Amino acid sequence: MTDQPPVQYRRDGDIAVIRVDNPPVNALSAAVRTGLAEAMAQLARDDQARAAVICCAGRTFIAGADISEFGKPPVQPHLPDVIAAIEDSAKPVIAALHGTVLGGGLEVALGAHGRIALSGARMGLPEVTLGLLPGAGGTQRLPRAVGVEAALDLVTSGRQIGADEALKLGLIDTLADGDDPCAAGVAEARRWLDEGRAPRRLSEIAAPEADPQMLDRWRATVAKSARGQVAPMRAFEAVVNGLSMPFAQGMAMERQTFTELMQTPERAALIHAFFAERRAAQADDLAGVSPRKVDRIGVIGGGTMGQGIAAAALTAGLDVTLIERDDAAAEKARAGVALMLEGAAKRGKIAPDAAAPLMEGSFRAVTDYDGLAQVDLVIEAVFEDLDVKRDVFRRLDGICRPGTVLATNTSYLDVNLIADATRRPQDVIGLHFFSPPNIMRLLEIVVADRTAPEVVATAFALAKRMGKIAVRSGVCDGFIGNRMMLAYRTAADHMVLDGASPYDIDRAITGFGFAMGPYQVGDLAGLDIGYATRQRKAPTRDPRERVPVFADRLVEAGRLGRKTGRGYYIYDDQTPKGRPDPEMAGMLDGIRAELGITPRDFTDKDIQTRYMAAMVNEGAKILDEGIAARASDIDVVLLHGYGFPRWKGGPMHWADARGLDRMAADITRLAAENPYFWQMSPLLARLAAEGGRLADVNTGKDAK
Ligand code: 3HC
Ligand code: NAI
Repeated sequence: MTDQPPVQYRRDGDIAVIRVDNPPVNALSAAVRTGLAEAMAQLARDDQARAAVICCAGRTFIAGADISEFGKPPVQPHLPDVIAAIEDSAKPVIAALHGTVLGGGLEVALGAHGRIALSGARMGLPEVTLGLLPGAGGTQRLPRAVGVEAALDLVTSGRQIGADEALKLGLIDTLADGDDPCAAGVAEARRWLDEGRAPRRLSEIAAPEADPQMLDRWRATVAKSARGQVAPMRAFEAVVNGLSMPFAQGMAMERQTFTELMQTPERAALIHAFFAERRAAQADDLAGVSPRKVDRIGVIGGGTMGQGIAAAALTAGLDVTLIERDDAAAEKARAGVALMLEGAAKRGKIAPDAAAPLMEGSFRAVTDYDGLAQVDLVIEAVFEDLDVKRDVFRRLDGICRPGTVLATNTSYLDVNLIADATRRPQDVIGLHFFSPPNIMRLLEIVVADRTAPEVVATAFALAKRMGKIAVRSGVCDGFIGNRMMLAYRTAADHMVLDGASPYDIDRAITGFGFAMGPYQVGDLAGLDIGYATRQRKAPTRDPRERVPVFADRLVEAGRLGRKTGRGYYIYDDQTPKGRPDPEMAGMLDGIRAELGITPRDFTDKDIQTRYMAAMVNEGAKILDEGIAARASDIDVVLLHGYGFPRWKGGPMHWADARGLDRMAADITRLAAENPYFWQMSPLLARLAAEGGRLADVNTGKDAK
């Protein structure tokens, strides 16, 4: 932090330069709002100043309201009043934009009379992604600046646009070169003075007309994409209703809606998610621990995961050596990685012509482990078999130079046992990528008993470089995510054994807001994965455990899910996303009859209750055991790896919001039916009795 006030006023000749300096992102805290209001008053008094520039220090223009103030009583001056003071200035005010100009930051810019942006600037109104709508004039000024349709697009989606697109839309007047926004702003203000241009106030422009058919189209689009959320439709209405009101009335309506949305569970959940993602990457015990340098990595195994990990690493600028078992497999992996890089180029992740040079210069797929002697980090992604993995780690131990980080991508296996295969367990860690790893952002960093802090820090640094959202996990079967999934999937399997169809379950769970139901997920991942896990665990299975016989039967009949065209659903040209199988009911009835089960009905509510109770109960156990450092880390895993609806914040946030006493009551009731499965987490029981919250539990694991 600097000692300077967060808003500084100085003069460059006859141009006032009002510079915001509030690291890290120049958020509009109360101090910044006060500083801007005072600067506008000073501008009015300053006889030497004929125009002004609002610009920012550091990496970005104002990135929005200060989110950490949300949920607390509002503090004056309010942002709409500050922006009104900017707009009312008799002297022209230019906003000079760079970095990410978001939310309240873009609204400040819309209050200015002119806007200039450096070429890398990005602009947007992301409030709907936080369960809000722009609350400082964005819904009223933006349509007047760019027209109704473009405004609806930006306001209801939260999408960011680049400076080029902003120029085309008329959101900015000028694109500037260079890297000094304040200097560019001063030059623009001087041009305004030279040309004798008067302030142009968006509030004084008549609202544009809107084509009713276009509005109907957008209403339908928003209703579809908002799916269970409130804010996007309220934002849509605020723009549309404002078109037929005087500006001041539109502002009052927007403010009223903003205040209402501020009170919603959706807003609380989305802001929880925002901070949870950032908190997950902070390990308190790693302060002062330097990561090791990683430029060259090795990937062992070029299957689904190895290829995707290699492509993600290349995209992040790392050099990759991939090892396969034979030349044919190496060639297949090479082709797969090349295809993924082409996809990355199409999605704009790398330059359009970057794929081929990366494959040529930074990638090789070989069969010889010797190429790993010089790498900084290795990620093993061979078959999920402890003996195979231990063998690979023994070889790595013999070849890699000291200090090389040795990581495994195992989904379930004990990282301590893998580390034991080496003479350097301090360098061994789990890096559990999610499929497909070149797309999915989640990465579980699995810290084993003897993993060195420096190695953990290296894993977090690598995650950041690869654009991943990292969450730290301890060692247990399935780590955080897959262990949670096993629990709620088991609850679902019990319901299917007892009378629900997989389609009932998927409907209820997508109705809750999940991207997919558990049986749709199963078909996508391949039913053989769960089958193999069940086979592995069969010898040690507790006799009280209920086996999902129907799942085994599907696999044994060669129905492995999407990849075979048939699993729980049937996939063909007419229904590429799958349709229910008419034979499923008969098969399930047959199995129930074999097991002596009389089927019963489950409502969507019953299904959701059991699914969530299983998830939250397991999450509480994971927290209690110190496998996750905090409840919010578990939320991040479920949000980014398992399709949990973001606007519900994650299972632990959802449980706290619902009330742990109600969660505990559900589990107690279910335990009467099946005491073996529904074993209440002692932590959950205690918190429920004390009126506590999962969010306040700190396992102290960071301090390991
Ligand atoms: N308020 C408070 N803190 C914020 C913040 C904000 N608007 N935006 C970012 N931060 C904090 C982060 O929590 C993080 O803190 P930490 O270092 O303690 O974890 C720090 O700033 C850096 O943030 P990131 O790690 O996210 O940095 P990046 O460089 O990756 O991203 C960013 C920068 C694109 C600005 C990203 O932080 C972002 O998207 N921020 C949110 C922007 C936003 O949603 N603005 C709208 C707010 S709502 C609003 O303006 C209402 C208005 O209409 C009235
Ligand atoms: P896969 O079967 O697609 O690929 C494994 C590859 O490893 C094969 O190409 C095989 O030829 C190669 N291989 C085997 N032994 C080798 C050796 N000794 N040296 C070099 N190459 C060898 O498997 P997939 O799905 O890529 O999984 C790999 C690992 O990632 C497993 O541990 C799995 O549990 C884990 N994982 C898988 C996820 C998924 O959804 N598929 C998700 C997250 C983790």
